[in-house]
Amino acid sequence: MSEASSRARTAALLERFPRETLAVRPTPLERLRNLEAHLSVAPLWVKRDDLTGLAFGGNKARKLEFLMAEAKRRRALCVVTTGFPQSNHARDVAVAARRLGLDPVLIIVGKDPRDATGNLLLDQLLGAEIHFAPTVRRAIAGALRVVSSKRLRGKRPYFILPGGSMPVGALGYVDAFLEMHAQFEAMGREMPARQYVALGSGGTLAGLLVGRALTSAHTRLVGVRVVEKRLLRDAAVLRLATRTARLLGRADLRISSSDFDVEDDFVGERYGTSTEEGDLATDAFARREGIFLDPVYTAKSGAAFLEHAESSAFDPRTGALFWHTGGTIALFR
Ligand SMILES: Cc1ncc(COP(=O)(O)O)c(C=O)c1O
Repeated sequence: MSEASSRARTAALLERFPRETLAVRPTPLERLRNLEAHLSVAPLWVKRDDLTGLAFGGNKARKLEFLMAEAKRRRALCVVTTGFPQSNHARDVAVAARRLGLDPVLIIVGKDPRDATGNLLLDQLLGAEIHFAPTVRRAIAGALRVVSSKRLRGKRPYFILPGGSMPVGALGYVDAFLEMHAQFEAMGREMPARQYVALGSGGTLAGLLVGRALTSAHTRLVGVRVVEKRLLRDAAVLRLATRTARLLGRADLRISSSDFDVEDDFVGERYGTSTEEGDLATDAFARREGIFLDPVYTAKSGAAFLEHAESSAFDPRTGALFWHTGGTIALFR
């Protein structure tokens, strides 16, 4: 079967799921011509998922199209999730909830600051019900308690896992893979042999992996870890990809750890801290392309992309692609 007909069949599988229109799609696929000239490597591509709209762009808008539709299908009145004070996910859940007339409830890991900045400030502006918990574990336990108490009070909560990384959310990136696939086909070009994406809670990479497997496309996905290994094991990404395939009715699909690479060397000290390579990548993207990266996610995935572009032999016919997954509000934290 050709890749185009596998794409059409995968799109038909996705159409069976309810979906809210929240993201601006398709996002632009652009050539990074100034970086190409600077590094003497071509072609280099960026998929501008920082421009998905919703509020300030980013990967969560795609996941939430399916997650919020599921919340509505279950006739939820409120959505509950957890994240750090600068969580793009928590912010976008709150934005999407407001758009659809549901109440956002956020359990934020950390202390209530006197002056909120960045995403937490936006969460407050959105009027989200915000609770604070000292650790991730206690935030999740707190979220489950909030879910039970809302349920008892007839508020019909829908709980979204951190990062929206559950099979329904990952469908957004199965669809994103098809969108990017179609964009290359429309240009009459082969898809880049390597694609780089930040690896946080895993839903974005899991969705892309399922999209790649279902279309049998010739490309290798590289997840650039931005969280410590103990917080997200490669096996968890595989499990999520397998469950996403099963949700699509393709339990037969085999995805194994040999189907993707995980780049571990760009996390730095830990999740959330900036790194020297990340700062250099941020400067390079801003000064050469007028594109802003964020210190937590895309500076690290962007650093891996640029470093590999410089040091490894990308196939000169197809080059490499960088998924810009957003997060730029963190520049203002
Ligand atoms: C801006 C940004 N990029 C990348 C990611 C990583 O995506 P995922 O959590 O699906 O691995 C996230 C969320 O965690 C994010 O907010």
